[in-house]
Amino acid sequence: YTSQGGLLDINVEAYYNWVTLGGKPANLMTYNGQVPGPKLEAKPGDTIRIRLRNNLTQPTNLHYHGLHIAPTGNADNIFLSIPPKEQLTYEFTLPKDHPSGTFWYHPHRHGFTAEQLFAGLAGLFIVRGELDEIPQIKAAKEEFLVLQDFGLDNNGNQLIPHHRDQMIGREGSLVTLNGQVNPTLSIPRGGLLRLRLLNASPSRFYRLSLENHPLYLIATDGGSIAEPVELPELLLTPGERADVLIKGDREPQQYRLLNLPYDRFGMGMMGGGMMGGGMMGGGMMGGRFNRNTRQVETLATLVYQGSTSPLPLPKQLLPVEPLPEPKFSRSIELSSTMMRGMGMAFLFNGQPYDHERIDTQVKINTVEDWELINRDRMGMEHPFHLHINPFQIISRNGQPEPYVAWKDVVLVRPGEPLKIRIHFKDFVGKTVYHCHIFDHEDLGMMATIQMT
Ligand code: C2O
Ligand code: CU
Ligand code: CU
Repeated sequence: YTSQGGLLDINVEAYYNWVTLGGKPANLMTYNGQVPGPKLEAKPGDTIRIRLRNNLTQPTNLHYHGLHIAPTGNADNIFLSIPPKEQLTYEFTLPKDHPSGTFWYHPHRHGFTAEQLFAGLAGLFIVRGELDEIPQIKAAKEEFLVLQDFGLDNNGNQLIPHHRDQMIGREGSLVTLNGQVNPTLSIPRGGLLRLRLLNASPSRFYRLSLENHPLYLIATDGGSIAEPVELPELLLTPGERADVLIKGDREPQQYRLLNLPYDRFGMGMMGGGMMGGGMMGGGMMGGRFNRNTRQVETLATLVYQGSTSPLPLPKQLLPVEPLPEPKFSRSIELSSTMMRGMGMAFLFNGQPYDHERIDTQVKINTVEDWELINRDRMGMEHPFHLHINPFQIISRNGQPEPYVAWKDVVLVRPGEPLKIRIHFKDFVGKTVYHCHIFDHEDLGMMATIQMT
């Protein structure tokens, strides 16, 4: 769906549907019957009107991840809930200066988010603009890649997660790209291929690498960076996006996009002892569908098809201004604890989510530095996400970030303090920040921020 004459006006229905995944039937939650959901496309300044009908048997809602839009009214208001059989019209306008980029939409009903995302509810929201007008990028072949994993039984029904799966964050053994297992992507010889990647999995990390080819990063979560950055591999944690170019100038005739092994407990042991390391991620503590991601998986196969006159990489993209020094600094601690009778809870500054509490108050027109500190006793890594206002990473574990980029999700590793800089620009109202491993969000790792 693409906006016409400044308006994107669509009906979206959330309902259960049998979909074919990797050649097998799967009973999923869908937007308009599809997994991933329909791709939405608009331009800065456009008005978006989405009538969401809930034909699930549980409450849901919509969140427009990464968009800089008002969090109030019937716009991107995650505190609204749509009961089964009811509908709600979302309406908002993209600011005229909204960056072009790869954004997305997904449910955000607290308590149901992980389940609904894992059942397939997610779709791309593309903002077309300046970045897409750069000649080499315009000429590149564009592919959208939505990464999702599913946990299904032999009949194609959803597995019910154990508490352990929720603690670690549910991961499924069926890994798909645009709802397909190892699809073929064609690339013109001599040309450029542009991959716009989204990790729409509730917990799985993707450590992406292309056989014999570097990736050239051109945009992060919030839009363009200043110039392409060559990467041997790319870690995409839940919620993150990356826009990369690939040069069609090397042999062999075909090569694979791989997901390399990654251990979400591996990096920070932090004296986690028994609880840290491979035991939790692997066998002993593993629940129903967590498994070791210690083997290389093929996500897609790229094949040369046809050829085009040689297309160089763009030298410059769009300038990115570093944010000025902050007026305020604060620190936010991420942790986990055993709650009596409730099992594991995940916390910000020692508290689980409470929708009636305001945790953080900020003033608009202000720049702030936030120091994020992960003291999770289990040694788990948490991808931190803030709504509405994108940020810049200043340093990780004391090391300055090598280039300036707009982000809305950042991985916070145990024992590695991370500093981000946020400009609370214009919108007043309430929204949230949370861990984008949605089981952790549903188990408490979310907080409310009020912008006044
Ligand atoms: Cu994709 Cu509140 O996030
Ligand atoms: Cu979001
Ligand atoms: Cu987390």
